[in-house]
Amino acid sequence: MKTSERKNPDVAPDNFRFVSLGEGGDVDFDEVIVGLQQTPKSVSPKFLYDARGSELFNAICTTEAYYPTRTERGIYESQAAAIAAEVGPEATIIEFGPGDMSKIRLLLEQLRPQQYIGVDVSAAQLEDAGPVLAADFPWLEVLAICGDFGPSRVLEQYLPNDAKRVAFFPGSTIGNFDPDFAQQFLKGLRDMLGTNGAAIVGVDLQKPAAVLETAYNDPQGYTRAFNLNLLTRLNRELGADFDERRFRHKAYYNEQLGRVEMHLVSVIEQQVRIGGQTVRFQPGETIHTENSWKYTRDGFAQLALNADLRVLRFFTDEHSWFGVFVLAVE
Ligand code: AVJ
Repeated sequence: MKTSERKNPDVAPDNFRFVSLGEGGDVDFDEVIVGLQQTPKSVSPKFLYDARGSELFNAICTTEAYYPTRTERGIYESQAAAIAAEVGPEATIIEFGPGDMSKIRLLLEQLRPQQYIGVDVSAAQLEDAGPVLAADFPWLEVLAICGDFGPSRVLEQYLPNDAKRVAFFPGSTIGNFDPDFAQQFLKGLRDMLGTNGAAIVGVDLQKPAAVLETAYNDPQGYTRAFNLNLLTRLNRELGADFDERRFRHKAYYNEQLGRVEMHLVSVIEQQVRIGGQTVRFQPGETIHTENSWKYTRDGFAQLALNADLRVLRFFTDEHSWFGVFVLAVE
């Protein structure tokens, strides 16, 4: 359905519910200052997503250069029936960081779950997307939970015990985690899913550096703006005095490690004030703002296996650029 055809319901439909776990929303800015005082300097990629950052990320996803979004969507569009055959109907789908909830839409008609749970730290995103999803799929129970990313004790009380639990983790969001943490995260998922659970995980795959480097240096400049927006955000929310013109966007494929690294490079020697502290930069010194890990099919299968999740099926596109793994609890 096109956006223009959707109505934003004034009154939330009966099949929509919103709960807040009361822990989401606030960002821990002490973490930012600690990261800037270390050598090398780094800031977690989660800070890239303020309102403007989310907008820019959505713009990145529409570009030709950023292949992951359209490639993954293509896989869901063409393989929805096969994915549904692995998962089975009447499940409870749990998605972490669902954004505009557009990816699950590609699977719902075939998957026919009884319930969809979207968990996000952004209440605004959930309140925008949740009621519209519920209105468009009246047979689906939609629960939006505002809270920390990932499986947790608090989340557990909202999960049904009588339905098959299926985690949906698209977009290669898992690629933002270092492999050790990704494995830990999958273990947490496995515990949350229980013995008959499953997971659908979208993972970006290793490929020639040129393709990757174009994707993270799109010609429209959205990725550059997305990266630099972090400084604007820190100026606004932490009273820092970064000058955006004194930093440049840098993204490249670290082939040895199998990850795209995104940095903000200081073009001159400079000092920046942030949270009552002074941070010094040498010319060429960088703030590491993101890793985007790229896996091989076998590499990710092994990572999943280490978390006691077995690959039921693997789907990819014609270039083997993106992988969708359907995992089952061992
Ligand atoms: C949302 C983490 C999957 O790593 O490709 C896009 C974020 N960064 N362009 C990615 C991102 C720069 C994206 N993930």
